[in-house]
Amino acid sequence: MQQFLNKHSFANLSMLNKYHQIILLSLFILSSCISNNEEELYTDCDTNNVTYSSHIKPYIENSCVSCHNTNLPSGGIDYSNFEGIKKTIDDGSFLGSIKHSSSYSAMPPSSPMTDDCKISQIQAWIDQGAEKN
Ligand code: HEC
Repeated sequence: MQQFLNKHSFANLSMLNKYHQIILLSLFILSSCISNNEEELYTDCDTNNVTYSSHIKPYIENSCVSCHNTNLPSGGIDYSNFEGIKKTIDDGSFLGSIKHSSSYSAMPPSSPMTDDCKISQIQAWIDQGAEKN
């Protein structure tokens, strides 16, 4: 930049400022585009076409079945089959516990709370009838 300034007379300085402004403006627009895209990547939560087999079952198998299975039905809850899951969906304890609602034990215990997107997807699946789809 110093070299560029030295080569040009003061008369061109206002031109330089124009270029400067355009470059800065483009950079600003470009960077806001990039950060918007990043934001979208992180907040993108698809609650359409949520199914038991693609969204709900894998989540429960990863986060819950270790303590809620036929051999170890903690709290009398067995999540190794759909019927066991459906029971706590219907009585509200499933959502209550993963949302850490005050009247339920927080699940999974001593683990980070289930992320908002997963909870929204589970909610969407329940709103559509909690089918074994
Ligand atoms: C580390 C073991 C463990 C994991 C993992 C776990 N649970 Fe539990 N869960 C328990 C125990 C023990 C109880 C019974 C005692 C209690 O209510 O705190 C229980 C109770 C519950 C209850 C009854 C709560 C109430 O207040 O009536 C629900 C519903 C439940 N679990 C759902 C889940 C769900 C959904 C997951 C997965 C997101 C999960 N649990 C993961 C151990 C676990």
